[in-house]
Amino acid sequence: YTAELDASDIEKGTYPHYMLKEIDEQPLVMRKIIQNYQDGEGALEIDSDIVAAMKEADRIYIIAAGTSYHAGLVGKQFIEKLAKIPVEVHISSEFGYNMPLLSEKPLFVFISQSGETADSRQVLVQVKEMGYKALTITNVAGSTLSREADYTLLLHAGPEIAVASTKAYTAQLAVLAILAEVTARGIGHEVDFDLVQELGIVATAMEALCDDKEEFESIAREYLTVTRNAFFIGRGIDFYVGLEGALKLKEISYIQAEGFAGGELKHGTIALIEEGTPVIALATQGFVNLSIRGNVKEVVARGANPCIISMSGLETDEDRFVIPEVHSLLTPLISVIPMQLISYYAALHRDCDVDKPRNLAKSVTVE
Ligand code: AGP
Repeated sequence: YTAELDASDIEKGTYPHYMLKEIDEQPLVMRKIIQNYQDGEGALEIDSDIVAAMKEADRIYIIAAGTSYHAGLVGKQFIEKLAKIPVEVHISSEFGYNMPLLSEKPLFVFISQSGETADSRQVLVQVKEMGYKALTITNVAGSTLSREADYTLLLHAGPEIAVASTKAYTAQLAVLAILAEVTARGIGHEVDFDLVQELGIVATAMEALCDDKEEFESIAREYLTVTRNAFFIGRGIDFYVGLEGALKLKEISYIQAEGFAGGELKHGTIALIEEGTPVIALATQGFVNLSIRGNVKEVVARGANPCIISMSGLETDEDRFVIPEVHSLLTPLISVIPMQLISYYAALHRDCDVDKPRNLAKSVTVE
């Protein structure tokens, strides 16, 4: 596949599917985002009104659906750890219902690739009627969620055609990390790493993973070709990537998959583990490394077929794949790529329509 990708190109070119092309575009998109969010001196910057709105907020409500909701869960980690502002993340269709808004000065952040998701638009209308401020993070300039919000941050990911979102997800994470870092510095908090440099390392790690497709095709063949279900387990930020991995697999291969917190399995769901059940375990977080490996032992004791995906520096010889090391806060930007690729190959092996899965639309513009 050509390396000179143009993320704005809406043709498949030499690619068999848009999804594969869009997975491969992720390193390029990362570099475009770094470029677009730098000032003349190379420091990261965002609109000062947005920084002011973030600084003023006593609580941030992230509102999103599907993959964008999964990005929001990771974004909460970024904003709380760097900017030290409390964050709640809500599924768009679940927000509201007379929930007490326990905040004097909330800021609402809508994450949406299309900017047209009806569930999210409904909440934005409600929020504006209540007189609150809203920021939309989207891939489509001029979309409804962008036009109706007070502020917009663009993903610069180029058109995402495949129904299964890939490059928009990692672009959302990068923009959320930039939002958190610039806000933190605006508030006066110390940020003990260079995000521009770390995002560059992420882009290079993404390229290495995208060059290793044979490995992910064989993992898909080994674990996911005939199974009827699969589990993605992780702890901390790996749990959120497991949720995204399960959604990718479900929506294009139609395998019943579930993302689960590793430590929670034994409270009931482990009853579903049978002989040969595939369990993809993410182990990129040093502080919970031993715990997640303990959870793998628990499922293996019940017959599971484990596939541990760890990160360089934490690996053991039990692991099926080791991703390159990046800053521990940014691991989701690359640990998601094996999720995307094994789902893609599982769908291929099962003769599914990768770019246009059954029952799904690219943007759910009806409630
Ligand atoms: C993701 O692969 C799905 N296509 C779907 O969950 C999607 O993320 C969701 O519908 C939200 O879309 P949006 O980001 O355009 O709001």
